[in-house]
This record gives sequence, structure tokens and C-alpha cells, in this order.
Amino acid sequence: MHPNAELGPALQALVARAEQALDRVLPAADRSPPELHRAMRYAVLGGGKRLRPLLVYAAGHALGRDGPELDAPACAVELIHAYSLVHDDLPAMDDDALRRGRPTCHIVFGEAMAILAGDALQALAFEILAESCGDAGRCVAMLRTLGAACGAEGMAGGQALDLAAVGHRLTLAELEHMHACKTGALIRASVRLGALAAGAGQAALDMLDRYAAAVGLAFQVRDDILDVEGESAVIGKTAGKDAAADKPTFPSLLGLDASRTRLAQLVDEARAAIAPLGAQAASLEQLALYAAQRQR
Ligand code: IPE
Ligand code: IPE
Ligand code: MG
Ligand code: MG
Ligand code: MG
Repeated sequence: MHPNAELGPALQALVARAEQALDRVLPAADRSPPELHRAMRYAVLGGGKRLRPLLVYAAGHALGRDGPELDAPACAVELIHAYSLVHDDLPAMDDDALRRGRPTCHIVFGEAMAILAGDALQALAFEILAESCGDAGRCVAMLRTLGAACGAEGMAGGQALDLAAVGHRLTLAELEHMHACKTGALIRASVRLGALAAGAGQAALDMLDRYAAAVGLAFQVRDDILDVEGESAVIGKTAGKDAAADKPTFPSLLGLDASRTRLAQLVDEARAAIAPLGAQAASLEQLALYAAQRQR
């Protein structure tokens, strides 16, 4: 199966657009220090569904915009995401050897270089966003959005909750909060950045945020289900890792059936939130379904 076979042709074209934009913003592999730059490129290029860039583009399209102003935020969220995966896979965190069907960054480049590649990708995300986010007011709003999403009350905070939860039984509310931080925050930021780049007002931002909160949680519920049901060769990462590491997940707390029911509810919530946008939100709607139904 083609890696993006679950996406329609319009979204596949946006994946290609994101790939080209990422290739442009990443440093050349022969730039000094070459090991660091090679590790950065390895972590970002050659795999990945590019869901977060797709959400940036789709949010822009929902508001009638499709210009080059969407490329920098699309790249910025994917650079943050790639950095988060490199660190997530480190021995001190999930200790994973397989990612996107290949050895993880620290397996190829060593732990120290993987840590630095993650650090540098995070910095690059802010740098490229700052270079092209338009007028000062909008730029500050976009930089704050990205900072909040990957910081202590966003992704990094969620990862800390995840590590602290190993071996514990969380309540459903605690589990949803953890997932909303570690995965949902960056997905919400992706939609918000696309909307801000498109000049969205407060009402549109609020509507799209209801959509994004539901998709962000749905995405991690699906990730937890795939960890149980998926095969390593298809998901491109080690299946069964959550149970082996005694992580609290949706299937471990609710079971698979109730996890699927919760997933369906979240998709309904996401679709309902953007219904007022009509046909312009078709890509957003497809992405909500994709987040919940993906096979990898
Ligand atoms: C995996 O994200 C980590 C989570 C936040 C669940 P993705 O499933 O989007 O990973 P790639 O980018 O497609 O490899
Ligand atoms: C990771 O969640 C979320 C991140 C912030 C990277 P997981 O640990 O479940 O992601 P995978 O399953 O390794 O991709
Ligand atoms: Mg993890
Ligand atoms: Mg992991
Ligand atoms: Mg997982």
C-alpha cells in the first residue's frame, strides 16, 4: 500500500507540497557540523503522514486561503513534531528502535546527536515561522501559539504526565488530559496557525479550535488502538509497546470497544464543529476521518 493511500488526491498533493517545503527549510546535509544536519534531515524526511502540515493547509483552505503564507507554519509544526518523536524514542523516554519503518534517530546517530537534532529542529521551527509570519501582531500570535503548544502546558507537559503515569491507573479525565497535552496541543496549534495565517477572526478561531480539540484527542486514541491492533510492519513502529511499558492508554483503561466508541464520538464532535463552514471545510472533514481511521 502507498504510504498515503488513505488520503484522497487533493490531500496527497498537499503532502507533496509539505515534503518540498520541509526539504527547503532544512539545512543541507553537508553543512557543518554534518552529523547534526544529517540527523535533523533523517528525523524529518523520508516518512511521516504529515498530518499536522495537512491541518495547517486545510484550515487555511477552510477560510479561503491557499497562498505561500501557509508553508512556514506547515513546516514549523512538522519540525516540532519530528523533534518530539526523536526525543520520545530516546532510551530515557519510550526507548524505541523503530520509527517510520526505519531505525530511530538515536540508533543511527547516537543519543547525544539525537538530543541535539531535536533541540535544533525545535529552534528551527521558531526561526522559520518568525521569518515569514507577516505583520508583527499576527507574527507574535503565531509564535505564542507554537510556544504554548510545545511547552510545559502542551506537548512537553503531556510527555511528563505520560512518563509519570507509567504503572498507574489514571481516571478517564486524567488520561484525556494527558493525551490532550502530549498530542492534542500540537494538533490544535496546527489548525490555529493555519487559521491565523489566513487572517481568521475570533469566531473562526473558536470554531476551528472545537474541531481541533476533538481531532487531537481522536488522533491519540487511534494511536493507542493501533499500538494494540497494528502490526509493526504497517505502523512503522514497534507494536505492543504501550502494554509492554505499562502505559495508561485508552484500550488499557476502557478496552478496545469503548475506545472505538469514544473515537466515533470525537469524530462526530469534530464534524459538527465545522459544519457551518460547508464545502470549504471538506479537507478538514476528511482529515478528521483520517485521524480516526488511519491504519498507520
Ligand atoms: C505519532 O505521530 C506520535 C503521536 C503523537 C501519536 P504520527 O502518527 O503523526 O507520526 P508520523 O509523523 O506519521 O510518523
Ligand atoms: C508520543 O506519544 C507523543 C509525542 C509527543 C511524541 P506515543 O509515545 O504514543 O507516540 P508513538 O506511539 O511512540 O509514536
Ligand atoms: Mg511516548
Ligand atoms: Mg512513543
Ligand atoms: Mg503510541
